[in-house]
Amino acid sequence: MAELAEMPVKSASTAAAALDIRPLTGTFGAEVHGIRLADDNSPDTIAAVREALDEYRVLVFRGQTDLDPRGYIRFASHFGAPEEVPHPSLPAYSDTQGEIPGIKVLHSNADEYREDAMEWNLDSWHTDGAPRANRHWRSLLQAIDVPEYGRDTMFADMVTAFECLSPAMQAFLEGLTCSHSWGPQKPDAPAVTHPMVVTHPRTGKKALYVNKLYTRKVNELRYDESAALLAFLIDQAKVPQWQLRLRWEPGTVGMWDNEFTQHYLVFDRSYDRVMHRIMMT
Ligand SMILES: [Fe+2]
Repeated sequence: MAELAEMPVKSASTAAAALDIRPLTGTFGAEVHGIRLADDNSPDTIAAVREALDEYRVLVFRGQTDLDPRGYIRFASHFGAPEEVPHPSLPAYSDTQGEIPGIKVLHSNADEYREDAMEWNLDSWHTDGAPRANRHWRSLLQAIDVPEYGRDTMFADMVTAFECLSPAMQAFLEGLTCSHSWGPQKPDAPAVTHPMVVTHPRTGKKALYVNKLYTRKVNELRYDESAALLAFLIDQAKVPQWQLRLRWEPGTVGMWDNEFTQHYLVFDRSYDRVMHRIMMT
């Protein structure tokens, strides 16, 4: 196994000295302090957040209790176009000033959600966007009403997962592609093909791009070869050395790059939780 790279501790970004970036693990993820998302959207600050997201892949902003939905969508828009198409089960945010189609309201009761999870196998590591032709999605999630404990979100860093494979395995995987599909969530949607190893456009870092929920087959291999290889690679998301667990508090905003990480929803207690989600590409 390759040695894990030491994550540099940064007190400031090159683009904005005001950001206080505190790594959450030795491999990925950081809390970002010294920024109010509601109104601190200067070009330097946005550039620094973008740079931090490239480097850490999961960012956590605490205490953003004054971030209203319009400020939230404004901040998100600096990082890509928020997805506005209607979601089959998540309503768009709406108030007296009108609807914001880019914000989807996740209003979930744990017991109902657990039933869904068992029915559709949603309770597993996955990458949002994998069954879509465009896999370059970043997500924002804002805690609106969350329990004092429980219902965390876990993340796995697929850059470190790839870097810790043997050079021979890395070279083998780089020539392969996988088919991904929604499965029972959207049985009629066609499968899409993505490379098994993806490369970050700015950092040049490579990541393993397979996940339990959506990856179906390695296209270039026989079915039995594919099944054996995918079982091994999908398990890489379960390695604690490249995981982090995000505990939500009122005012917490999480931001992550879907292409280079996976996440897992921990359905461990019943709570009528409300989150606001934005996906940008
Ligand atoms: Fe997800």
